[in-house]
Amino acid sequence: MPKSVSPSPTGADGSPAAPNGATAPDWWASAVFYQVYPRSFADTDGNGVGDLEGVRSRLDYLQLLGVDALWLSPFFRSPMADHGYDVSDPRDVDPVFGTLADFDALVRDAHERNIKITVDVVPNHFSDQHPWFQDALSAAPGSAERERFIFREGKGEDGAQPPNNWPSVFGGPAWTRVPDGQWYLHLFAPEQPDLNWDNTEVIVEFADIFRFWLERGVDGFRIDVAHGMAKPAGLPDLDLPPEGASLTDQIEGDLRWDQDGVHEIHRGFRKVLDAFPGTMAIGEAWVPDDERLALYVRPDELHLTFNFELVTARWGATEFRSAITSSMAALAKVGAPCSWVLSNHDVDRHVTRYGGGSVGAARGRAAALLQLALPGAAYIYQGDELGLENVDLPDWALQDPTWKRSGHTERGRDGERVPIPWDGASPPYGFSSAATTWLPMPADWGPHTVESQLGDADSVLSLYRLALELRRSEPDLRTRAFGWQGAPEGCLAFRRGPQFVCAANFGAEPVAMPPGEVLLSSAHSASSVADGMLAPNTTVWLRA
Ligand code: NOJ
Repeated sequence: MPKSVSPSPTGADGSPAAPNGATAPDWWASAVFYQVYPRSFADTDGNGVGDLEGVRSRLDYLQLLGVDALWLSPFFRSPMADHGYDVSDPRDVDPVFGTLADFDALVRDAHERNIKITVDVVPNHFSDQHPWFQDALSAAPGSAERERFIFREGKGEDGAQPPNNWPSVFGGPAWTRVPDGQWYLHLFAPEQPDLNWDNTEVIVEFADIFRFWLERGVDGFRIDVAHGMAKPAGLPDLDLPPEGASLTDQIEGDLRWDQDGVHEIHRGFRKVLDAFPGTMAIGEAWVPDDERLALYVRPDELHLTFNFELVTARWGATEFRSAITSSMAALAKVGAPCSWVLSNHDVDRHVTRYGGGSVGAARGRAAALLQLALPGAAYIYQGDELGLENVDLPDWALQDPTWKRSGHTERGRDGERVPIPWDGASPPYGFSSAATTWLPMPADWGPHTVESQLGDADSVLSLYRLALELRRSEPDLRTRAFGWQGAPEGCLAFRRGPQFVCAANFGAEPVAMPPGEVLLSSAHSASSVADGMLAPNTTVWLRA
């Protein structure tokens, strides 16, 4: 399978993207992926939790929206300590989500609509209920069973102190002691013991897990914690960042992540995928430095890696411009496209990050047109296309392990995981036939439902539909061409080939729009673009 796209005279870097379409082997290079968080997408069995049949029942909607592929967050057997990212059987569907037959039916029906299916793989850890970990607990220190995980003796008198000072991502120490006195490592919850990737059994097992899903017809994978599997020799203590450090500062130089050894693991994954032409993998690698990020998408490693720069960038022309420039420059060096993200199930929704309310909503619409105009792949998180905000949930409803592990100081990620509204005027808005959903839905989401937005030409949903349609039909958007164009202060503008221009105003005052025919504006049609001015918090797509 070709790593990068074939040459063409139109691309700024001499190479055009594959057109969006079902048949190109490198379809992923410019695809629009839609992230389904199955618990919160659609519930068909009335238990208040979404399921795979729910996804299948809404494929017509996803086709209408115009996405090329789905990324399904974990639906595997799991005790749900981290809502599925604690996998106890990676080759089966958890009963709460359905059965393997449901999964097969979903793949079949999605493929009939030219929608690809990609699934999560969670190679950094298993659930503590996975038979391997249960075996490790009953086996003796030093046994082969324990070697599949990271067990160590503790420090201090009687080994009563953890082996090092590593914190877990969800709060508290990254080590838990077992009755015989040893400690095991869990970078996340204690229910998620880290696997030992120096152990051949682990390598062989994951190659087999990949093949299991590839043989069932999946088109690709999202690799969870792709920067986490390799651990530094000797597991030395960390220089802990100060309280309240930014995300970038927290991961900068953090020995738990981005060890060079991780790349050999990804090369192994790639070899498995290469035996299934047309399949792909994207890494979830939170790496502060774009040059380091690019290493994950070298030609013999992963196909894509999320560019989280638009997630971490504050609203502003300078911030967005530098996020885009640095991502593109770094990945171009290895010939890989960028994968643009605004939101996912781990971060506050972007409308909320941009201030919420009417300003957040306008900025959210503007950011969507920026994201979808950039060359490369784009990931939409379910509900982005409805303009959803995070929900302020009451304490009693919170389920994210972060809430408990932080001693109730960090609320965690439930606010962005609330089930999405389909129709009707009150909860559960067609998400479920149950009156109570796994996370409560707000009373004021009536105007946000798919039903009410489908019929409204001004809705966020209509904006996404039009944008995705133009992304397919505009010739310039089907290339990898990109170049910045001059723009007034507080604005940015770029070209995608000879005709297509995207311009955004992040400032507080209207500015004159670049010349050209307006193809699409993020502003509501009521605030018309006819005066030739680009309003604050607005993006336009133009044909020059
Ligand atoms: C990243 C996933 O996106 C997140 O939801 C999960 O909690 C951690 N990895 C641990 O698997």
